[in-house]
Amino acid sequence: MARSGEQNGGMVYPDEAVLARAGVEDLRAVSQAMLVDMPSAWAEIARTQFEWYEPWHTTLDESNAPFYQWFVGGKTNIVLNALDRHVRSWRRNKAALIWEGENYETRTYTYQQLNREVSRFASVLRAMGVNKGDRVTIYMGRIPEIEIAMLACAKLGAVHSVVYGGFSVEALHGRIEDSQSRIAITADGAWLRGNVVPLKDIMDEALQRAPTIQTVIVVKRTGQDVHMEPGRDLWYHDLMNLPIADAHIETVPVDAEDPLYLLYTSGTTGAPKAILHTHGGYMVGVAATLKWVFDVQDDDTWWCAADPGWVTGHSYIIYGPLLLGATSLMYEGAPNYPFPDRWWDITERHGVTILYTAPTAIRGLMRFGDAWPNRHDLSKLRLLGSVGEPINPEAWRWYHRVIGKDRCPIMDTWWQTETGTFMISPVPATPLKPGSATLPLPGVEVDVLNEEGDPAGLNEEGYLVIKRPWPGMMRTIYGDPERYVNSYWSRFPGVYMTGDSARRDEDGYIWVIGRVDDVIKVSGYRLGTAEIESALVSHRAVAEAAVIGVPDEVRGHVIKAYCILITGVEPTQRLVEELRDHVAHEVGPIAKPATIEFVETLPKTRSGKIMRRVLKARVLGQDEGDTSTLEQ
Ligand code: WTA
Repeated sequence: MARSGEQNGGMVYPDEAVLARAGVEDLRAVSQAMLVDMPSAWAEIARTQFEWYEPWHTTLDESNAPFYQWFVGGKTNIVLNALDRHVRSWRRNKAALIWEGENYETRTYTYQQLNREVSRFASVLRAMGVNKGDRVTIYMGRIPEIEIAMLACAKLGAVHSVVYGGFSVEALHGRIEDSQSRIAITADGAWLRGNVVPLKDIMDEALQRAPTIQTVIVVKRTGQDVHMEPGRDLWYHDLMNLPIADAHIETVPVDAEDPLYLLYTSGTTGAPKAILHTHGGYMVGVAATLKWVFDVQDDDTWWCAADPGWVTGHSYIIYGPLLLGATSLMYEGAPNYPFPDRWWDITERHGVTILYTAPTAIRGLMRFGDAWPNRHDLSKLRLLGSVGEPINPEAWRWYHRVIGKDRCPIMDTWWQTETGTFMISPVPATPLKPGSATLPLPGVEVDVLNEEGDPAGLNEEGYLVIKRPWPGMMRTIYGDPERYVNSYWSRFPGVYMTGDSARRDEDGYIWVIGRVDDVIKVSGYRLGTAEIESALVSHRAVAEAAVIGVPDEVRGHVIKAYCILITGVEPTQRLVEELRDHVAHEVGPIAKPATIEFVETLPKTRSGKIMRRVLKARVLGQDEGDTSTLEQ
């Protein structure tokens, strides 16, 4: 093995200290076991590392593919393994969650304390009639109560549907309506860059459009006056002080295949899809992958700097770390508030050992220069992580050198809301190539296919697919199983289509290139063209709209919108601003177009579909490709 951090033909090798700790042999054994008999290898992990109320009879049921089922017949609850068993062990007094507010307020919850809060809130929800299978919408910022609310739902076997706190009125309304939630949990506001995001006001406006909600529970965070609708809205702290808030209620046993949560994500066309994850398989997959990739141990302070409202937060701020009995840090605010070293300050003060974030954040912080991180002691860090989009080698090297001091390997994890867990990623011992997510994890079989469905050649770009089921995979699109089959399993029958393009190099390393569909990644956030376009056409001035993602140095991509105006409407700069604000109000500030161009026509196929590919090629000054189907 090469020396510390040595770069050899593009490879960056881990140093001896990393290798000494990483449990390399264990992973070799599990990889081998997966190759021999994948379901049995997962069964071994599920049996030895988790508690079950009742064992399963079939590890993997493929009889109704692509509706795969895992640990069929087994009874468990993710909360049994995330909280209950730790509370029975020495870990009861270990910190489960360390939280820092943007205003520097801090709170630490031990496993026992977190469990008490979760039990109390679960009893409140139960008293309100929340039962197994009921959907509950959660719309909050990054505060401990979002975690408490999610776990309380899971404890009862209810299904949480978290809507990212950066989304706005129509995005929230659509997600509430689709899930048919009767109860919503929110906060008065969230702190961001010293300002209040008025979550409750947004919720009120969404509820004027969504009649299903009967009760809204409101956590007090920012303290400004909010409207409380009599008979509908209740304060969280009032409920938690009632005698019904029982700190010792039993976790409800559920089937391994019972739903744990819905998480809406954008796809190629139409409304966002409600990705459904389950208790059993997801639990096993999330914990195993977190252990393999980041080797989280009892002396670690793990910081996943994502938002709990996206899958990264669900899997790796909340469920994964708790399942491993780890200490997880959550930070409420912006990375550069009040100063550009806020993250490095947090890393130093809390002794963070593993930092997991997104390329866009790294690029954003890199812009402020090396002096900000250099004034902090980052020596406790031992591993770094990246997720959300391909990381460009320049950002990779800065992260590695300035934050990781050439000592900390970077785990570039490729995965999706749909996959639930890491799929392609190095582990600490893997030699790295900056910009590549390296190799599939044990049990994961990926391929790169050409248009015909044959394996693409070496270094040839093609469709990234997954060929075998895995425990953490989505089970369906809630309420629309047909769409599940059509969106993911029909382009190449029997194979899961990721929607990404990639190439594989001579060492078998995967280089993810980007989306092949209409999903746009803005600052690592996943947005769909359809949701933004429908917001634009909901404005009285717009007849038709098309949006595309154009490359941006910091944010990866930004939104460019093309609008055809209603006859007689003047194309003014004021209207541009009005439309940008309208999108922010309906979908959320992250979806705000960077530019809007007024046009007379949009390129369409003869059947009337907008050819965004052509718009994109025009912006990038590229060949427009095959336009034979373009309407002339
Ligand atoms: C992209 C986020 C390159 C990819 C966990 C994928 C990545 C989409 C990486 C899923 C990575 C995620 N390298 N691209 N390491 N990680 N992506 O559902 O396009 O928000 O399909 O899940 O992000 O986004 P999602």
